[in-house]
Amino acid sequence: MIIAANWKMNKTILEVNQFLDEFVSLVGENKHNKIIIAPSFVFLQKVIKFARKKNIKVFAQNCHQFASGAFTGEVSASMLSSIGVNGVILGHGERKAMGETCDMVNQKLKMAICYNLEVILCTGESENNRAEKEIEFQIKTSLKDINTDEKICIAYEPLWAIGSNKSASCENIYLKVKFIRDICKKMGFFNTKILYGGSVNLKNYVRILNIPKIDGILVGGASLKSKDFAEISSFNSSLH
Ligand code: 13P
Repeated sequence: MIIAANWKMNKTILEVNQFLDEFVSLVGENKHNKIIIAPSFVFLQKVIKFARKKNIKVFAQNCHQFASGAFTGEVSASMLSSIGVNGVILGHGERKAMGETCDMVNQKLKMAICYNLEVILCTGESENNRAEKEIEFQIKTSLKDINTDEKICIAYEPLWAIGSNKSASCENIYLKVKFIRDICKKMGFFNTKILYGGSVNLKNYVRILNIPKIDGILVGGASLKSKDFAEISSFNSSLH
């Protein structure tokens, strides 16, 4: 399973250090899952140093669509790659709310692949009754002219489930994962990993990870506490 933490704009350096110290003693051998942590840009190097020892992957939460240039305040895929970042989360609903379009996500995705970064591409509806239309548009636009899914995961994150304490039902997640997989197949992508994100917590992660054909989860709030994220990261499908 892929268990990914999106820390969003949270934690100070003291809190990052504390999390890593606690997590390292709690998480054990990490044999069953691919664990990903996506901290803020400023803590990437700190987390990378720690992650090497534990076989954890480190992702950024965004990158710019151009390789370099006069883009004050931005961070490029080449910069991320040069410090050993493994991948990047792209197209998050919170970034779309700040004006990011699917065409921009498509450019960013090409740049990420060009610099050998893995990608978690987020998709999710804003309105229930338009869910399939919105998801199909987002995936087709974001993956336009991409010819391999080798490094791409798609995270289904309905906007209403993010940070709301109201996760989507298992049945809904199952149907959306299937729908997304069908779109991917039609586009010639047969191995795309598909995750769910949106109010995943200690109470629901086992149920969600047991949904047939799901490949993992993208966790926001519950990934901020070392104890909670260590428990979630230790998921073992043969025991649960
Ligand atoms: P929450 O788990 O806090 O709902 O956030 C989900 C998310 O946006 C992960 O990218």
